[in-house]
Amino acid sequence: MSRCAFDIQPIGRFEGSNTSIRRPKEIACFSYDDQHQFRLDDSSLRYYYPPHLPVDLNQGFETFQKLDDTGDDHLDALLETIIAHEKETGKKCEVDIITWRGMMTKILTAPFENMNGFEMNATFFQGTIFIEENNAYKNMQKQMQRNQRMPPGMPPQDVMAYWGYKFETLSVLQQPWDPTPRTEIEDRENEIVNNHSQYCSVVRTGMGNVKMILGGEVDAVWDCKPERKEDAIHWVELKTSAEIRNDRDMLKFERKLLKFWAQSFLLGVPKIIVGFRTPQGILTSLEEIETATIPNQVKKGRNTWDGNVCINFAAKFLEWLKGVIHEEGTWRIRKHEKSSKIEVFKVEDSGNGDILSQSFIAWRSHA
Ligand code: A3P
Ligand code: MG
Ligand code: MG
Repeated sequence: MSRCAFDIQPIGRFEGSNTSIRRPKEIACFSYDDQHQFRLDDSSLRYYYPPHLPVDLNQGFETFQKLDDTGDDHLDALLETIIAHEKETGKKCEVDIITWRGMMTKILTAPFENMNGFEMNATFFQGTIFIEENNAYKNMQKQMQRNQRMPPGMPPQDVMAYWGYKFETLSVLQQPWDPTPRTEIEDRENEIVNNHSQYCSVVRTGMGNVKMILGGEVDAVWDCKPERKEDAIHWVELKTSAEIRNDRDMLKFERKLLKFWAQSFLLGVPKIIVGFRTPQGILTSLEEIETATIPNQVKKGRNTWDGNVCINFAAKFLEWLKGVIHEEGTWRIRKHEKSSKIEVFKVEDSGNGDILSQSFIAWRSHA
C-alpha cells in the first residue's frame, strides 16, 4: 500500500469516553541558549513570576532579537537528546512514534481545525516511526500568513507576534523568585526580548496502544523542578490573548483554547497563564487556567470542540499509521486546507531521507 487516506469525518465515530492515555513523563530535556546553541542540560529553564500590570507589550519591539526559524533542523536536537538518554540508561527507547509536540498538536486538533492544512515527513527505523515537519510547507504557510491583509487599525503582524515573546520575558525569572533580587524582578520590563533560548522537555507518553516520545518547548515552571523523577513537574504555558468584550470574542477565545489545551495536554503542562491584552497590546489582566478543566469548560460553553473526540481520533489515526508506515523509506503525511482526510503516501522507497541525523543512525547501528 503506497497511498492511502484516513477520514477525519464523520467525527461522531470518535465520541464517547476516552481511549486510555498515559500521563506524559519527562525522560530528558535540552536547552537552546540565547545564541540558539544546543545544550544537553536545563540551562534555559525559566521560573514563572507574574508581571506588573498594566504593561505595554509593544515596548522594546525595535530591539527584538528574533530567531530566524526558516532553516530545517529536522529532528536533530531531539535525537541528540535521545542518544544521550540511551547512553545513560543503557536502554534503547522502544516506542512507536518519535516526533515534535507540534506535529502531534496538529494531529490532535485535526477534527476541529478544518481550515488549516499540514505536511509532515515520516520514516520507519528500527521499529519506530519518526515524524518531522515538512519545512518547505511550513515556510510557505508562514509566507501566506504574512501576505494576509490585516484589518485597518490593527497593528502589523510582526508587532503582534512580538507581544507573545514580550509577555514571556515579563513573566519569567532565570532562577526561583526567592533568591532573585527585587531589582532584577522589576528590571524585566527593560530586558531585551530574545527568543533564541528555549527549554525543551522530552516526554514519554501514549494514547491507546501507541507509545510515543515527544519533544517540545515549555515556557516556565511554577515553582521548581521536583527532586524526585517520579513527581509531576508544575509546568506553566504562557499565552497572550485579546480581551474578551462580547459574545463573539468569547467564541473566538473558546476556539483558541483548543490549541492551548492540545499543546499543553501533550507534554503534561498542567497550567496555562493567559495574559489578556487590549487591541493595541496593553496587558491588562491575567488568568490561570488548569489545562485539565478546559474540555469541560468548553462543553459547558459554546461547545465548539470536544477533547475526547480529539484524543479518540488521534489514537485511532496513530494506530492506523502504525499499520501503514512499517517498512523502509520516507513518507508524506498531508492534510490539505479544508480537507477532511489525512493522506499518507510513500515518497522514497528506501533510506530515511534527511529525517534522521547521521549521528543517530551511527549510534543505533553500533549500539
Ligand atoms: P502567544 O501564544 O502569546 O501569542 P508559545 O505560546 O507556543 O510558547 O509561543 C510563544 C509566542 O511565539 C507566541 O505567543 C507568539 O507570539 C509567537 N508565535 C508562536 N507561534 C506563532 C505563529 N504560528 N505565528 C506567529 N507567532 C507565533
Ligand atoms: Mg513557548
Ligand atoms: Mg507560550
